[in-house]
Amino acid sequence: MKKNGRLYTVLAVTVGVIFAITGSAYSEGHSKDLVKYPEEYRKWAHIKSMVIQQGHALYDSFGGIHHIYANDKALKAMKSGKPYPDGAVLIFDLLDAKSENNAVVEGSRKVLGVMEKDAKKFSKTGGWGFEGFKGDSRERVVTDPVTACFNCHEAQKNSAYVFSQYRQ
Ligand code: HEC
Repeated sequence: MKKNGRLYTVLAVTVGVIFAITGSAYSEGHSKDLVKYPEEYRKWAHIKSMVIQQGHALYDSFGGIHHIYANDKALKAMKSGKPYPDGAVLIFDLLDAKSENNAVVEGSRKVLGVMEKDAKKFSKTGGWGFEGFKGDSRERVVTDPVTACFNCHEAQKNSAYVFSQYRQ
C-alpha cells in the first residue's frame, strides 16, 4: 500500500511536470506569433498624417491625429508597388488632437497600431499581423485581429491590405 502511494505520488509529479513543460512550450510558441513592439519606429520614414474629427465615421475608434510610418522594407514596397516582404512594418501612431490658439496640436498617445508582415505566421489575416499597444505602454489591446482590424483592411486587398500610399 505504502509503495503504491509513493508510485501515485511519482506519477502525479511526472504528469505535473509534463503539463508544465508542454504548457510553457505552448505559450512560447504562441508568443512567437505575436506582433513585436516596433522599437525606434519614430526614426522610420513618415508616410502621412491625418486628423479625424468628430462627425467622421471612424471618430469613435480613431478620432485624433495619426501619423503613419514605414520601416525600410515597407517603404521600398510602398514606393515600388512590389509585394511587401516578410519583416515589413507599418505604424499607425494615434494621438489626441487638441485645439489651441486656433491650431490643432498633438495630445497624448492613444494607441500605437502596428502591421507586421509575415506571410506564414499571419496567413489568416492577409500575411499581416495586426496589433495595438495602449498609449505609451506595451500593453496589447487587440484580442481578435480579424474583427478588430482585418475585416476593414480587407477592403484594400488590391494594394496588399494597405490604405496609405507614398507621396513625394
Ligand atoms: C474601420 C476601418 C479600419 C479598422 C477597423 C482598422 N483600420 Fe487601420 N487603417 C484604416 C484606414 C482608413 C487607414 C488609412 C489612414 C490614413 O490614410 O491616414 C488605416 C491605416 C492603418 C495603418 C497604416 C498602413 C495603412 O494601411 O495605411 C496601420 C499600421 C493600421 N491601420 C493598423 C490597424 C490596426 C492594428 C487595426 C486594429 C487594431 C486597424 N488598423 C483597424 C482603417 C481601419
